[in-house]
Amino acid sequence: MAHIQWTSDLDTNIQVIDNQHRRIVDYINQLDDVNESKNPAEIEQVLNDLVDYTLSHFAFEESLMEEAGYPFINGHKRVHELFVKRVSDFQQRFKMGEDISRELLIVLKSWLINHIKSDDNDYVSLVQSNLTQDSKKNTDGWITRSVKKFFR
Ligand SMILES: [Fe+2]
Repeated sequence: MAHIQWTSDLDTNIQVIDNQHRRIVDYINQLDDVNESKNPAEIEQVLNDLVDYTLSHFAFEESLMEEAGYPFINGHKRVHELFVKRVSDFQQRFKMGEDISRELLIVLKSWLINHIKSDDNDYVSLVQSNLTQDSKKNTDGWITRSVKKFFR
């Protein structure tokens, strides 16, 4: 399948978030590559890494929204939660021996792109101004601390 190409309309211009989104895109493209190999152990490894990283990213993003006082955080958290559930259903089917990679890749690609462009885009201005205020107050260590907290 065609890889996801990063285009500028995916940028939130919050660098720490864009770096994480790019990393998720890399994992999805990597899953696409190992899917061609049809090696279940390889697919499982990339799938686990992708899920692990995405969970950390969601937790990080949620704390960023919370810190900024984003009013629709609960709805956004719910969207994350439903997506995690959807992916874990795929993981279960995969463990039962079903070949789900192609279907999963289609879901991942469209979900992520949509989510970045609409749901994530909605918190950007508030989070950005909060981060700007933080750096003025010289408290920009918050990002570094949070990255350490959520990413092993
Ligand atoms: Fe999100």
